[in-house]
Amino acid sequence: MSINDVSYDTSIPNNVGLHQDRRVLKALEKWHPGYIDWWMDMGPESFQAAEVFLRTAVTVDIQGWAKFDYVKMPEYRWGILLAAKEEGRTIPFGQHKGEPVWQEVPGEYRATLRRLIVIQGDTEPASVEQQRFLGKTAPSLYDMRNLFQVNVEEGRHLWAMVYLLQKYFGRDGRQEADDLLARRSGNADRPRMLGAFNEATPDWLSFFMFTTFTDRDGKMQLEALAQSGFDPLSRTCRFMLTEEAHHMFVGETGVGRTVQRTCEAMNEAGITDPYDIEAIRALGVIDLPTIQKKANVHISLSLDLFGSEMSTNAANAFTSGLKGRYKEVNIDDDHQLINDVYPVLKIIDGEFKTVDEPAVSAINARLRDDYVFDCRKGIQRWNKIIAKHNIDFTIAAPHVAFHRKIGEFADASVTPTGEILDKSEWQARASEWLPSQEDGGYIASLMKPATKPGEYASWIAPPKMGIDNKPGDYEYVKLD
Ligand SMILES: [Fe+2]
Ligand SMILES: [Fe+2]
Repeated sequence: MSINDVSYDTSIPNNVGLHQDRRVLKALEKWHPGYIDWWMDMGPESFQAAEVFLRTAVTVDIQGWAKFDYVKMPEYRWGILLAAKEEGRTIPFGQHKGEPVWQEVPGEYRATLRRLIVIQGDTEPASVEQQRFLGKTAPSLYDMRNLFQVNVEEGRHLWAMVYLLQKYFGRDGRQEADDLLARRSGNADRPRMLGAFNEATPDWLSFFMFTTFTDRDGKMQLEALAQSGFDPLSRTCRFMLTEEAHHMFVGETGVGRTVQRTCEAMNEAGITDPYDIEAIRALGVIDLPTIQKKANVHISLSLDLFGSEMSTNAANAFTSGLKGRYKEVNIDDDHQLINDVYPVLKIIDGEFKTVDEPAVSAINARLRDDYVFDCRKGIQRWNKIIAKHNIDFTIAAPHVAFHRKIGEFADASVTPTGEILDKSEWQARASEWLPSQEDGGYIASLMKPATKPGEYASWIAPPKMGIDNKPGDYEYVKLD
């Protein structure tokens, strides 16, 4: 048995030696029933007894972390899985750069570190709550299974953060772990901590957009935390990233298959004008302009998750060695940013201007820019599908200042193409860029479940490949 192997002999599968750590094992066992209560209450509704073809980690190395089998979701083995320890790892950035990484929480950074872990932890159950009704309208068993896979893994990500809180933060860590089960997405009194995680995910196109763009924000945050000088956090995030990649795959291919079905239906009907909305909707598919509007919503909400472009908190987290930049170790600079500048886009006197700001204060701006770049690749793949069907339309990421509630552009009224308008004109034109009630109603009307193996809803193409080399008509979820 290598150190990467997951031990299943405690009630909580783990590769962190929980059987030798009675205090933490006990704390986690105490937390477990509350978690199951939360899962039964706020997890996928109506499918808790269904057998789902899910993957679980058996080891955390490349060969063994994905093993597939049927399991009822409440019996999924949520575990504590950390990537292998790198011997001799040093803090890669900030004022402690080059010192050995911390295996315990440095006292002076305790509060900051706890807050970073709690904020990350809070997003995990939030997305499960947001997606809890979607099983009932799944466009196929394949998609339903993917939804549930994402859900159980977001549950595991909560476990990952709760382990750090309970192992390294004592009494207040346990309190935070309990609070993570008490907040609820969209609840007026006890909302989740970040805006996008309190929005509704009303339909499957929203789910696919969410997993493409909001899970990608998750990826960027995890990448930044994976650089951390606090080694247990780094190792936790490195393993979470392997799961996150699947979530973005589900989203990107989900939108891609939606786009593909629309293009196929247009081709079959001989419709060439992508703006002939009525004719296209009569085919039972989602017109491309509406798909663009959905992307506009989810990208702009996700951009807000990066926080203010200029941020003292982010600067402190960087200087302290707690949260780095995307691909920190590959960046060619001194990793301390004492005299460096970073170009930050702002609106000055009614015009966009790029201003050189101290790089250490612009950490969030940089992560957001890296995110926008990362988003482009997926969008390009969607556009290739459209081009292949000879339809004159391209999906584009909206301008970073469009529809923002946080940061530099919170008060600006900017169109997706980057035109600055006055507030009233922007509001009058909003339905050109964001889904109207009618658009939402049309999408909702398509959300009819397809529950026979191999059956797919009218608006989405089957996948190219199934899960774990199984065909597309495999019985991914056994309903009774
Ligand atoms: Fe997650
Ligand atoms: Fe995720």
